Amino acid sequence: MDKVVVSVGGSVLIPGQDDASYIRRLADMIREVASEVQLAVVVGGGKAARQYVDLGRALGGSVDELDELGIGITRVNAKLLCVALGDIANTEIPVKAEECASMSQPGKVAVMGGTEPGHTTDAVSAMIAQAIGADRIVNASNVDAVFSADPRKDPNAKRYDRMTIHQLNDVVYHDHDAGKSSVFDPLGVSIAMKGRIDILMVNGRDLDELRNAILGKPIKGTFVDSHV
Ligand code: UTP
Repeated sequence: MDKVVVSVGGSVLIPGQDDASYIRRLADMIREVASEVQLAVVVGGGKAARQYVDLGRALGGSVDELDELGIGITRVNAKLLCVALGDIANTEIPVKAEECASMSQPGKVAVMGGTEPGHTTDAVSAMIAQAIGADRIVNASNVDAVFSADPRKDPNAKRYDRMTIHQLNDVVYHDHDAGKSSVFDPLGVSIAMKGRIDILMVNGRDLDELRNAILGKPIKGTFVDSHV
């Protein structure tokens, strides 16, 4: 049975539009594929995390305190997905990647949010993937694929169907420099690179696409090859 870790962005889970209906359909799909692959799911913070981080910043919070606010929201979001998943998922949200890794087993879905300050849930998904020896990481975001630049600003932006982990590393390093939110956490990229774990970048609002990525079938998004 393949082992797969899914990183679901908070803005995919709770964009503030038909959230209950989407989360219910996502949970149904996850329950269905859990008989075919061993799954762990890491949930991001989205809009609510940004709101709390902004409030914390306005109140003079330290960088670590702002991250802790973000982590709190990722755990609340993870619990929300567990509520929708019911018996197949954990009831308590683990706080360490290793703890989540040891909970992941065939027929069960291990769900968590963030761990500690200094990175994002993408990096947590890579840590779990490394710990369980995952075949792939699926990054469910609200963009369809990886581009060389922002396609809304640059008409010459190249869309990648396939790229190497080294090319993704160049893209996130460039994003990082510009102080923007990366397509994937640079720490997560470096863990996946060392562990030779492929990353599938897909639009998580498209549940057929997300299911195909989880099952290792062809996708419309970007396949990041770490075996190069
Ligand atoms: P996210 O993983 O959602 O971060 O965690 P993000 O990538 O910035 O958000 P999206 O994907 O664009 O929606 C939210 C925040 O929580 C803190 C960070 O501050 C992060 O930006 N966090 C999360 C941690 O410090 N450690 C973690 O392990 C996870």
